[in-house]
Amino acid sequence: KMAVSGSANPQEHWSGRAAFILAAVGSAVGLGNLVRFPYVAGETGGGAFVLFYLVCILFIGLPVLCAELMIGRRGGGSAVAAIARLSKSEGKSGIWTIVGWLGMISTFLILTFYSVLAGWVLHFVLLSIGDLAGAIGENGLGAISSPAFEAMSKDDISSQLGELLTQPVRMIIMHGIFIIVTIAIVMRGIKGGIEVAAKVLMPIFFILLLALTVSSLINGDAGAGFAFLFQPDFEKFGAALSDGSILLDAIGQAFFSLSLGSAMMITYGLYLSREDQIPGAARAVAFADTSVALIAGLAIFPIVFAAGLNEAAGFSLLFNSLPLAFHQLPFGGIFAIAFFIMTLFAALTSSIALLEVTVAIADGDVDVDPAKRDRRRVQGAIVIGLIAFGIGVANALSQVSGVETFFNTWHPLDFIPLFEGLVLLDLIDQLTANILLPLGGFLTAIFAGWVVSGSAAREELNFNSERTFKIWRFLCRWVCPLFVGLVLVYAAIIAPM
Ligand code: PHE
Repeated sequence: KMAVSGSANPQEHWSGRAAFILAAVGSAVGLGNLVRFPYVAGETGGGAFVLFYLVCILFIGLPVLCAELMIGRRGGGSAVAAIARLSKSEGKSGIWTIVGWLGMISTFLILTFYSVLAGWVLHFVLLSIGDLAGAIGENGLGAISSPAFEAMSKDDISSQLGELLTQPVRMIIMHGIFIIVTIAIVMRGIKGGIEVAAKVLMPIFFILLLALTVSSLINGDAGAGFAFLFQPDFEKFGAALSDGSILLDAIGQAFFSLSLGSAMMITYGLYLSREDQIPGAARAVAFADTSVALIAGLAIFPIVFAAGLNEAAGFSLLFNSLPLAFHQLPFGGIFAIAFFIMTLFAALTSSIALLEVTVAIADGDVDVDPAKRDRRRVQGAIVIGLIAFGIGVANALSQVSGVETFFNTWHPLDFIPLFEGLVLLDLIDQLTANILLPLGGFLTAIFAGWVVSGSAAREELNFNSERTFKIWRFLCRWVCPLFVGLVLVYAAIIAPM
């Protein structure tokens, strides 16, 4: 065994394989699946995008996920430290730590808008609690069995997010509460808290999502929903393909949803114990994450089409459509509360991971005296969390409608064709998902395929056949870098010019 593999990993490990998978799934499953996937699918026209998304998960996401877990476990320490150690043990330069720093910048930027969207979810939690409480106040406890938002018209229900967007102060308060909770958890270290929470809540979340999907397939336009998601429209597809944007969107969504290219899975790989098989864990995480996205699509689009909502409505899709589903459901009030609480939790397990990456890197190396490390972790979480909150306020203001907030008319990178007309929140979303994460994944694949030696990778990954290892290596060496690289250059630089 090489020295690098055992000694650098003094941290507590996840209590077992199931716990690691749940926590990794918890970090991967979040607003990316529930809010972002339907939104990107809606804007790119559905089927063709979904097809490409699945191809990207299989041939790019899965190998890069294996690579990141491998780097994390073998390297030990934060993403930057892990890569530094691995490079050193291979006799290569420390320049590759750039991958860690890039990931840190990406995760930090994602946190600044993720927490704003999570604030929207929190608003919907309170809204649905208020609605049920009101119904009970009026009609007694029997109101529990009635659908959600009974007193409202359908139009009112599907414009609740629109309402929130006219209230900047409320939006900022929700965003602030969410950030504070995230800081408070990361401050305590991720082991006890995240693992327990993920173990309890993730299974409930899955059951709830399934129940909701069944209901929306029954009450909504199931045929239109299926057709939209799974029937590629090749005409639309051809048009989109000519500028490569649909490919970039699919790659970006795959990276965002699996939390790849962001140093996150490198950071979590550190906590994976030596007995666990990386390929199996990676498969389970990718499968669960992709299932949640597709199921969320099947919960949302039938309602969107049945109610005649606009499917290209951006981030608002989930918020405009699902309350209508609860409106048609017995016990809808209870379901609505449960669903939005679960969504909030899914967002929280992801935002914890987002903050954790940065704090772990800022924490420095694992060799620091533990007492000092705890204090540094607390300070790091607070300072980084507060800066994210500050930028988040600007993000929130960029979404406001009805009143001028400066940020809602400001298009920071208007001079770059790819980012033309985007306000801050949408800009940071596009910049991270479609540029920074793919770039991080591109570099990670090269690092794992070319810099890490075959023998080290083979030992660490421990595939059950040499052939599978060869396929993995080939994907990392050639397929991922070439495909991601070409699409990035074409869709982001050449086509927009
Ligand atoms: N994968 C998370 C989601 O889908 C978002 C995320 C991205 C989390 C990158 C961590 C790192 O919601």
